[in-house]
Amino acid sequence: MSADRQPSMPQHATPGVAGAVWHSLVWLVLGNTMGVMIAILLLLPGLNPWLGEWTYGRWMMVHMNIALYGWCSLPMLGFLFKVYGADRGSFSNWCRPVLWLWSGALVAGSISWLSGQSSGKLFLDWSGFARVFFPVVMEALWLLLIVAFISKPQGDPDSTLVTRIAKMVGLIILAAVPLAIYFASSSSVYPALNPDTGGPTAASQLESSLGVVLILLILPFGITRRTQSLSKAVTLSWIVFLAEAGLCVALGRTDVSHHRPAQYLSLASLLVWIPLIPAYCAAFRWHAATRGWRIAMFWWWGGLVVSGWVLFLPGVLDRIKFTDVLVGHSIVAVAGFLTALLIFVMIQLMGEEDAWIFNRRWSFHAWNLGVLAYVVIISIAGWIEGANPAFTIVPGPAREFLYIVRLLTGVAMLAGSLEWLTAASSLPALERHVEVELQGVNVA
Ligand code: HEM
Repeated sequence: MSADRQPSMPQHATPGVAGAVWHSLVWLVLGNTMGVMIAILLLLPGLNPWLGEWTYGRWMMVHMNIALYGWCSLPMLGFLFKVYGADRGSFSNWCRPVLWLWSGALVAGSISWLSGQSSGKLFLDWSGFARVFFPVVMEALWLLLIVAFISKPQGDPDSTLVTRIAKMVGLIILAAVPLAIYFASSSSVYPALNPDTGGPTAASQLESSLGVVLILLILPFGITRRTQSLSKAVTLSWIVFLAEAGLCVALGRTDVSHHRPAQYLSLASLLVWIPLIPAYCAAFRWHAATRGWRIAMFWWWGGLVVSGWVLFLPGVLDRIKFTDVLVGHSIVAVAGFLTALLIFVMIQLMGEEDAWIFNRRWSFHAWNLGVLAYVVIISIAGWIEGANPAFTIVPGPAREFLYIVRLLTGVAMLAGSLEWLTAASSLPALERHVEVELQGVNVA
């Protein structure tokens, strides 16, 4: 990419961003440790009675939720602190308490899931006390952002009328998120279903994928600048996005099978984003240290979009639905694509001096190759399971071999993430009394 240099980047992470990086890595390591544990339980189910009531099914829920609400969400807090200026000046002292509250809500959620409380909805398992506590923590974050936003001096060069309006719109949308999480966690609210699989329809797949695309299109504006004011790739991307949003509306929200050509052909419209996303990103200035993870993100993105579409095709989806192939697809999405995106964004937020924590060759390869091998192994297991459902339930040499290799790939991922956490624990901004030079401003 031509525009890798960004001379105005801060050299070190601010305390708010460093805190977000550290908290998210703690949850990543915990999530991976649980992943390794449940992978062992699948090989040695005789260990389950040792865990009392906290058996495989309950740990599985905690494993998935802390991956999403811990590892995948906390970097976004760092992003929001930076965008709304909460990580600078007098507000920076409030970033730490908000991060601890967020982690506290995850601890409360984990205890409730391990105790058997759940709405029964994947990734929306919040129930009881945790269902209220988590949205309240989100409100605390919102409060910090709005106060930081309102207090920003009018003469700030970064604060044009357009950016202030965009940030206001962002705050209005963010205000709705806690309520949306609370209501969506209700076991009486359900989206449209594919009657042939019991899973989502193409329209809802397209809708959620476009949500991800929208995030990819907006993100650069919060953390960097354009290389030039007019870019064909940027204009084209927004036109395509609006056209596909229109397609989504046209498809409607009814229960419909994936065997309908209109369904799988509409989903194919996402393939255009494989070249468009790298072209779009090329129109922005990126820190040179983001290069490795940025390129990894593009590769995972391509793999995710292609595999997501192929897996939805008639004949394929009928065989792989609810098998390990879909576990593999989830891993491509979160451990592959989303993780590469988050690390790329965190490096951009932290600045050149602190980028080394994610850029060591060993952990980069342990993670990416570990995830890739996990996906290949589990997809083979899932494909066999599609024809013979007993394959993953009844232990046999082939199943045991594949699950042992999967366990080893998980250990490689855990080791990579442990190296990042150990390195992040030494970030200068995490030490309370060290003064960090940040763009000419001293941040305590
Ligand atoms: C960022 C890291 C990770 C993320 C985001 C992640 C995410 C997920 C998700 C979303 C699922 C549910 C898949 C589904 O039912 O569709 C899952 C299941 C699972 N994960 Fe992870 N995971 C991660 C790391 C690991 C690691 C390091 C291991 C260790 C081997 C692991 C082992 C497992 C196991 C054994 C299952 C259960 C599969 C089954 O039900 O057969 N995960 N993970």
